[in-house]
Amino acid sequence: MCGIVGYVGSEQAAPILLDGLARLEYRGYDSAGVAVYSQRTGTLSVHKAKGRLQVLSDLLQGGAAVEGTVGIGHTRWATHGAPSDVNSHPQVSQGGKIAVVHNGIIENYAELKSFLMDKGVTFVSETDTEVVAQLIEYFYDGDLLQAVGRVLHRIQGAYALGILCADVPDQLIAVRKDSPLILGYGEGCSFLASDVTAILRHTREVGYMEDGEIAVLTREGIQCYNHLMQPIQKEIFHVDWEIDAAEKGGYEHFMFKEIMEQPEALRRCVFPRIREGEVYFEGFGLTEDYIRSIGKIYIVACGSSYHVGMVGKYNLERLTRIPVEVALASEFRYMDPIVDEHTLVMVISQSGETLDTMAALREARRLGGRILSIVNVVGSSIARESDEVLYTWAGPEIAVATTKAYSTQMALIDLLALYFARVLGTVEEENYRSALKEMLLLPAKMESVLEDRDDIQYFASQYFNHNSVFYIGRNVDYALGLEGSLKLKEISYIHSEAYASGELKHGTISLVEDGTLVVALATCGRLFEKAMSNVVEVKSRGADVLALTTKSHREEMARTANAVITIPDTHELLLPSLGVVPLQLFAYYVALMRGCDIDKPRNLAKSVTVE
Ligand code: G6P
Repeated sequence: MCGIVGYVGSEQAAPILLDGLARLEYRGYDSAGVAVYSQRTGTLSVHKAKGRLQVLSDLLQGGAAVEGTVGIGHTRWATHGAPSDVNSHPQVSQGGKIAVVHNGIIENYAELKSFLMDKGVTFVSETDTEVVAQLIEYFYDGDLLQAVGRVLHRIQGAYALGILCADVPDQLIAVRKDSPLILGYGEGCSFLASDVTAILRHTREVGYMEDGEIAVLTREGIQCYNHLMQPIQKEIFHVDWEIDAAEKGGYEHFMFKEIMEQPEALRRCVFPRIREGEVYFEGFGLTEDYIRSIGKIYIVACGSSYHVGMVGKYNLERLTRIPVEVALASEFRYMDPIVDEHTLVMVISQSGETLDTMAALREARRLGGRILSIVNVVGSSIARESDEVLYTWAGPEIAVATTKAYSTQMALIDLLALYFARVLGTVEEENYRSALKEMLLLPAKMESVLEDRDDIQYFASQYFNHNSVFYIGRNVDYALGLEGSLKLKEISYIHSEAYASGELKHGTISLVEDGTLVVALATCGRLFEKAMSNVVEVKSRGADVLALTTKSHREEMARTANAVITIPDTHELLLPSLGVVPLQLFAYYVALMRGCDIDKPRNLAKSVTVE
């Protein structure tokens, strides 16, 4: 959601900005723009275009048409004002001096706008961001940093800002509150970005801005200040992600590449955490005494991370007997949650930047809970604000629809469930051993599921023109159905819903008629007979049933279902980890056959940084 890139150095800025923006495209956007200052002509040139970044890039001949070595760029995901050239960023002040790119929402923009209009300022866009540019110019009297400081005292909301002023064109100013922004330290140059992938080609040395901080970027380096404008020293992190990992590497889509990367991601996530037959978390701060004192676990997340939490609840409760409640992060804040010092709040987030999840984390902390987060992006806001972090080590995930992050989050919850159960004595030795043995076999079993992808492509070709699809299942299969259904709807735009099978007859079955596609999930062995009876139930109303089950139940399922996808047998805890893969592939192939923009589905963003 909105991507920011900034550069000050000795090379031409526009190609660097456009390249950086291309690497942020996955975040979701509907227009793009750059502002570059040319030392030769002494002018600030601003170029913006609605639509794909390619439109802007073509306009600027890949950046060659714009001269200057300092600039800011932006991909906009519209909130205030429809997608249009004029509403795109950078937004420029009336006098043409100040250019601003912004990610977030300025909540009191209307009040500030009318204040400025009363002073005679004319606005050209409908955006909240233009208010920031105009207000900086209003306060500017030769000291840009001071003017920015005065603006920060007046604006409310969430923002990451990149600011360029034509009067001080050898610097950029960056500000952050509740929206991600990172700093890149190069040789004779400095960078600003929403995410490391945008600048990885140029530097691996990065700093993470904290809320309230201001940074001044020049060719010589970056000086940061706290909210009191006192200079501060920032820790510099070395990013060791391979550049290839953030590129398509011959695959047609990032999503497909990331689906295929899952076994490797699991090896990275799981193998170092099993040592000598025991779950092992290096430097883990939750002591055995603390684990024994946990009265309740809250799992808080959004989207697919929430679905991981749904499976996690079943697995954690079965193994540890600790009550687990799963909450949507966007609801958590407003539901008056019951949290105290005996509540462990597990926060799950791939990006570590989802605004609702971050707000829920802060609310949980305020109420006295202990925060354990499961995060992919190292150094992200959620990771930094948690008491404990377990990283998924899935590598950069670019496609909007998450796949490998889901799988590794799932694996970490399973490891945590086993670890807690071991401490609490609620798991039998044999069960514990067999679960860990199977965890080590999981990547290879997942590879065998991926090898069978042609079958799934065939099923997709049979069903891709359905208008509506139902996913049904019980227990973990229900939670898995939620994720399968979300994957399908987000990338193929087919209406789909997931139901707990037992609920069918309380309403949904009335929608099942001749030819309705029902994806019946029946991986959970102990509930197989129940799952079968639901398959019979929908079949007898005319549904086409595509079933997912384990090898050992294949034959029985094939007698009733129209088509069967199988996964290898494994420990019950791990069935969703294998089961999700065919559902991801099914959604992918269906979207492919429908000609959808798989990596960048309409209206969706990878990192949702507004409420
Ligand atoms: C967006 C993404 C989803 C993701 C959700 C939560 O909607 O498209 O794939 O599950 O955000 O994101 P997070 O980074 O917090 O896991």
